[in-house]
Amino acid sequence: MSTSQQLELFTGNQDNVNEIQNWGTFKDSLREPVHRWFTYPAGFSYKAVIHALERFGITPNMVVYDPFMGSGTTNLTCKSLGISSYGVEAHPFVYKIAKTKMNWEVNRSEVIFFLKKVENIFLDTLNLVIKEKDFSINNCFPELVIKCYSDDTLKKLYVLKILLQSEKLSQSVFDFFYVVITALLREISSAATGWPYIAPNKIKTSSSEKEVLTEFIKLSYEMLEDISIIRCNSSPKYANSIHQIFNSDSRNTENLLQNNSIDHVFTSPPYLNNFDYSDRTRLELYFWGEANNWKDISNKIRTKLMTSATTQIMRSDPRYILSDSFNRDCSDVAIFIKESVGKLEKLRKIKGGKKSYDLMVVGYFNDIYRIIKDVYRVLKHDTKALFVLGDSAPYGVHIPTDKLIGEIGVCIGFDNYKIEVLRKRGDKWKSNPQRHNVALQESIVILEKK
Ligand SMILES: C[S@@+](CC[C@H](N)C(=O)[O-])C[C@H]1O[C@@H](n2cnc3c(N)ncnc32)[C@H](O)[C@@H]1O
Repeated sequence: MSTSQQLELFTGNQDNVNEIQNWGTFKDSLREPVHRWFTYPAGFSYKAVIHALERFGITPNMVVYDPFMGSGTTNLTCKSLGISSYGVEAHPFVYKIAKTKMNWEVNRSEVIFFLKKVENIFLDTLNLVIKEKDFSINNCFPELVIKCYSDDTLKKLYVLKILLQSEKLSQSVFDFFYVVITALLREISSAATGWPYIAPNKIKTSSSEKEVLTEFIKLSYEMLEDISIIRCNSSPKYANSIHQIFNSDSRNTENLLQNNSIDHVFTSPPYLNNFDYSDRTRLELYFWGEANNWKDISNKIRTKLMTSATTQIMRSDPRYILSDSFNRDCSDVAIFIKESVGKLEKLRKIKGGKKSYDLMVVGYFNDIYRIIKDVYRVLKHDTKALFVLGDSAPYGVHIPTDKLIGEIGVCIGFDNYKIEVLRKRGDKWKSNPQRHNVALQESIVILEKK
């Protein structure tokens, strides 16, 4: 394999090292105004974005692109710095969260007017709803939602939902409250609704159920305040920066983004770790009626995302072979992937669960290849694309995703790549004989287009 790989653990004082270890996680962002509106377990730290933009001299006259926008960390950070950006996110619900976080022009008086109205009519509406003939909260939501709340709390959440949906609000104010109520859902439940798993039969250790209306009003004002803070703390240039974000597929952005138009890419693709992004938002999708069952989630979301989970795989689907263009452009990488896939195919037959890791790996690299190609197309010359990601070891077969992404980048035209390790991970698995003992890491892969 041709390689210009350089492995380098950031050095510096212990504080820097500790901070950098968190760059691949959402911890820092959860303390920041607006970033914190939605706890996205797949999110990364806004500090990593700031660091990269400063390091590579990205200034307000330039344009940044995130092909896996998620909840919008890259774009929000760019906006704060007055740098224009593009973002693409395929998950419609996650896109909506990012879109709302990017709008700092929400009409404050309209928000407050609606809040006062809700305060005034909440109890009366609740009583009316309860007294309605044949009303049963069990008919309003799928079972998962019903299991996560007491009857009383769920009725109140239902009233908030119908008050929001029945009021004629501007789109941006509607979106604002959509995010407020969404953010309350896991916060308010006394069941174990923490991320990433929902365990409705377990009770949270720390808390009892919180009062819906009080929390709703409190959070709405906090989020309004967040907008004031972020506007005040941002570069004055933010007002002139332009941000275009799309609920679309970054495997093909030809109709969205022009060739040679982007100055920098900062992104984090799905890791090859069997994390089903669509399933993780099940509580929210079910609450809003945007999906009602597994099949709905598959049709509306799972099939729209790049392959990174076995739940996306149908073994009868013939598409799970490495594409001709991948084989042609990246022949050495293709050999390595096929060898790994062969091992996984054998292992799945003897392992419990018989997970389709073999086909997942094929699907993953077919998709990531297309996205790297598209990223190359949109980047100007003398630019860089940074991918934050972790490697993985399904059934103990190590797939060095960072190195392979670097190699694929070079195969399709990037001049070189470099891997910088953020943290070693997965140590806790070592003591568990059911899991593998491969040391894993989280890194930033830097692809350079000269
Ligand atoms: C690791 S997360 C990115 C999180 C983001 N950095 C943040 O801070 O919120 C990867 C994202 O890629 C999205 N995704 C998966 N397939 C996609 C595709 N084909 N096009 C665009 N986005 C996709 C997933 O829905 C997920 O939100």
